[in-house]
Amino acid sequence: MKILITDSLAKEGIDKLRGEGFEVSEQIGIGEEKLVNIIPSYVALIVRSGTKVTEKVINAGSNLKIIGRAGTGVDNVDVNAATRKGIIVMNTPDGNTISVAEHTISMMLALSRNIPQAHLSLQKGQWNRGKFMGTQVYGKILGIIGLGRIGSEVAKRAKGLGMKVIAYDPFIPRKRAEELKVNLCELKELLLQVDYLTVHTPLTPQTKNLIGDKEIRLMKKSVRIINCARGGIIEENSLYQALKEGRVRGVALDVFENGKPFGSPLMELDSVVLTPHLGASTEEAQRKVAVDIACQIVDALKWNKVRNAVNNI
Ligand code: NAD
Ligand code: MLT
Repeated sequence: MKILITDSLAKEGIDKLRGEGFEVSEQIGIGEEKLVNIIPSYVALIVRSGTKVTEKVINAGSNLKIIGRAGTGVDNVDVNAATRKGIIVMNTPDGNTISVAEHTISMMLALSRNIPQAHLSLQKGQWNRGKFMGTQVYGKILGIIGLGRIGSEVAKRAKGLGMKVIAYDPFIPRKRAEELKVNLCELKELLLQVDYLTVHTPLTPQTKNLIGDKEIRLMKKSVRIINCARGGIIEENSLYQALKEGRVRGVALDVFENGKPFGSPLMELDSVVLTPHLGASTEEAQRKVAVDIACQIVDALKWNKVRNAVNNI
């Protein structure tokens, strides 16, 4: 049985698949047209976020049984089309949770203390201590939208830094928030209070543009906003306007509406910290998601044991 991998996957996962007797082909970064041509030969396709698994690709997959996402978000896979064709879509929901939570906290601290800006300034030969006056996070209010796996780990770490944590998530039980010592509230109530806002929901039709101009105007002018979830949950144009008009203090983004931020006016602002989708980019997370997806695919194809399917039924 042949398995195709189209985004880079840690060696440990590939070794596992080959060790179980699968023929693995790595064709990193191929486009839709090539994928459509070659997909009929494969029973499973493994991707991260770089490959768009469109309806056209899915319909061409005459032997395709599984689409495996080595990571969490499945917004790059047409899950409805796969479900209609009876193809299992599975992700690895736990593999990169801690890494993304750590990246979120790093972004919050980088914003608070102007670390990237100060580093760049020093590299240019400037010694400008006054320009980079920061702010403590201790005692500040962090608002988390989406208190799932990553949101919960962010909450624990923020508590360790002495922050007060509040959250908006209409789908989690109140008991879970109590365990985390996080106050659940309505979105508007959260926005009115926060010093820092971070989003950790999936990108869905309901969460697209969840935070736009109207919501930003409810927040304090000193607010700092972080998005390490998916581009498009917070409207980039509204963020830009708010930063330009001094209605938001700083913004840190790991993810972007158009995948990459090139050409975005946000790139020109000093009050912005950007990383190229690095939330899950740690050795530990990449090893874990690769091994997890390999084991899940082996279990499904060899033993009919399906885990972490995300198909809509
Ligand atoms: P999760 O499913 O454990 O948690 C998501 C939470 O969002 C859930 O508790 C859910 O109830 C909540 N939610 C859903 N819709 C909501 C809404 N409309 N309003 C408020 N809350 C809502 O997922 P997770 O593992 O915590 O991951 C969250 C997202 O982070 C993923 O979907 C993915 O897009 C993103 N992510 C990014 C990176 C990265 O590299 N930057 C890595 C991993 C995951
Ligand atoms: C995810 O959803 O897991 C992240 O976006 C990380 C990745 O791109 O694999």
